Amino acid sequence: MNIQAKWIKTVPNMGEMCPEFRKVFSADKKIVKAEACVTSLGIYHMYINGAKVGDYVMTPGYTSYATRVQFQRYDVTELLCANNTVSVVVGKGWMYSALGTPPRPAVDCSNIAIKASIEITYEDGEVVVVATDDSWEIYTSKVVFSEHYDGDTIDLSADIVKLGNAILDEENKPAVIEQVGEFVAERERMIPTQLIITPKGEKVIDFGQNFAGYVEVRIKGKKGDRVVINHAEVLDKDGNFYNDNLRSAKCCMTYTLSGGEDLLKPMFTFQGFRYIRIDEYPFEEIDINNFTGVAIYSDMTRTGHFVCGNDKLNRLYSNIVWGQRSNFIDIPTDCPQRDERLGWTGDAQVFCRTAAINYDVEKFFRKWLQDVAIEQTPEGGIHGVVPTCGVNGKRIAAAWGDCTTVCSWEMYKAYGDLEMLRANYPMMKKWVEYMHGKGDEEFLWVGTYHYGDWLAMDAGYGVYIGATQTDLIASAFFAYSTAILIKAARTLGLDEDVAHYEELYKNVRAAFREAFMKDGMPVVYPKADGLATDRPVKGVTQTAIALILRFDLCEDNEREALVTRLVELIKEHDGCMTTGFVGTPYILHALSDNGRTDAAYDLLLQEKNPSWLFSVNNGATTVWEHWDSFDANGKMWSTDMNSFNHYAYGAVFDWMFGNMVGIKIRDDGPAYSKIVIEPSPNEGIGFAEASVDTRNGRVFTSWRYIDGRVRYEIELPKNTEAIVRIPGMDEKVLKGGAYVIYK
Ligand code: BGC
Repeated sequence: MNIQAKWIKTVPNMGEMCPEFRKVFSADKKIVKAEACVTSLGIYHMYINGAKVGDYVMTPGYTSYATRVQFQRYDVTELLCANNTVSVVVGKGWMYSALGTPPRPAVDCSNIAIKASIEITYEDGEVVVVATDDSWEIYTSKVVFSEHYDGDTIDLSADIVKLGNAILDEENKPAVIEQVGEFVAERERMIPTQLIITPKGEKVIDFGQNFAGYVEVRIKGKKGDRVVINHAEVLDKDGNFYNDNLRSAKCCMTYTLSGGEDLLKPMFTFQGFRYIRIDEYPFEEIDINNFTGVAIYSDMTRTGHFVCGNDKLNRLYSNIVWGQRSNFIDIPTDCPQRDERLGWTGDAQVFCRTAAINYDVEKFFRKWLQDVAIEQTPEGGIHGVVPTCGVNGKRIAAAWGDCTTVCSWEMYKAYGDLEMLRANYPMMKKWVEYMHGKGDEEFLWVGTYHYGDWLAMDAGYGVYIGATQTDLIASAFFAYSTAILIKAARTLGLDEDVAHYEELYKNVRAAFREAFMKDGMPVVYPKADGLATDRPVKGVTQTAIALILRFDLCEDNEREALVTRLVELIKEHDGCMTTGFVGTPYILHALSDNGRTDAAYDLLLQEKNPSWLFSVNNGATTVWEHWDSFDANGKMWSTDMNSFNHYAYGAVFDWMFGNMVGIKIRDDGPAYSKIVIEPSPNEGIGFAEASVDTRNGRVFTSWRYIDGRVRYEIELPKNTEAIVRIPGMDEKVLKGGAYVIYK
């Protein structure tokens, strides 16, 4: 289905002005139905007779624009009358803002384009279509500037003038497809907690929670008065407004008042922030009741819940959920604030399991994974960023490209949609073949650049890539992704592929063990030098051991020594992790899978830096990019890579849900039809409970210490079968129903 209309673009030399496309038309009979279909190159808001069409923001969403753009369909029957004005105001958005790290070339609004139709059905059966063509007119708008990272400048006092007629423009346009993903909406309203006058004398409003969205201001001032608002995630150690970590993103809203009652809010941008600094305001007194924070994110349904007897873990969980909300704005992003906010594939790979517990993310990932497939290189490579942009975004790296296999498989496990798995399968296979063809060693991936164990702490302070050999990580992921591909092939009944990739897997695993292991321990492989670097590269690292254990790259009789060494390494680091993006999601699993749930709990509950609770103790309301985004002395990690809202380390929730409370999906039980319930009660924590609303109904589990005994509750939906393993009891199989067990 396409929109029955022509692409039209704005007049030349628009500069920074966001154009309004306008059409006046009459509808002189009784309307029984009217439907609008709209898309744009840029981000649009459509109005009919002054009323906004649809409740959504950031439309038409972010896709691989070179190939496809979504359109949205709205029922507008109630908005039309005899004489109508339809108006579509469009800002640069993701399409025409220069995305990625600087230099960011200036792009103006001259190529902004729309394609829209309104199909009207009259009572007598006649159908007319008002479609974009060169009779539409172009006007200036109140949005005199808008840029994804820099914010909007809105002049509500400006006169609107006609600039000419729209220009037909069908050249080089992407395919137009109907909305596939979730809509982005205003999902939460945040009341300010306080007005702060900082030591520097700045007027700062605190919303008490880091989030992504914007601030609405209700105000009546004089025509021409200005309100200027800047955004920040944190205050510095002296309590002053701190936004150096936004890098080149200005995140500044500038409003000029109309003189009447104004409601100020951006049209085309959002910010990641907890604090705003009010730099211009027409009144001396600031009444915080006139300010409301609006959190926007994809309109996913909440599915997961968790609570336990440790308030710090509860805060961590809240931070993880807010990390997801802030970074699930149509695509999975690394962060919502600085000049990135990009679909980093590694971050999505790391977090997708957790994401699919908290929210129903099937639609969200369906769309994004389609773009991952669209942008896959002919050799099967996957860019670091999808939709890709910038030089860095084009790098192809292990653990990032593995989003193909990992996200596709996790979505299948969570929701059980075979068709989605079938659609993703060719991309998964091509990715495995890409790794197979890389470098001169057939069964290893060595010798190319990787992000490695990104932001790990074991290569020294300030070094981005951790000490684990990047080729070890790449080759381990080669094995892991091949193993996932085999499961997918088996699920899809592709027997030849199963046999073929089982053979490949055997060879990759053997080559890995030959190159990267000696006497059951990881070692540096001298023939692999992946990254020319002066950082120390070590064989035995927490991440190397975690991957080997979790990806089953060791023999069973090697496990005990490996897990013992892992525990020693943690002890040697003062009881802390040193892992980065790659090792962190697996380290607790590596411990608890191998009999050391006690050590996993110690790490989870650790409060020294680096640990999950260090940030909680330091007032974090979202998950930080660095373990030490600021340290115990209030020193910031750096200005150039220091997000306070990066969900990657929030992947720990996968362990809290799957191991602490103990709900795990079996590989042969998609959509939680077959699960394992294996709780790990902890007396110090006292109780824990979690639930997830699955395609089959709600799964709930809890444990609680009562007078030295543990009371377990389990609730299973009708079509779910659970293997239940309660410590100290025989394994049993339970089917739909509610159960209470004391032990
Ligand atoms: C992003 C990360 C991303 C990384 C690649 C960073 O700038 O914020 O989260 O995965 O680059 O290593």
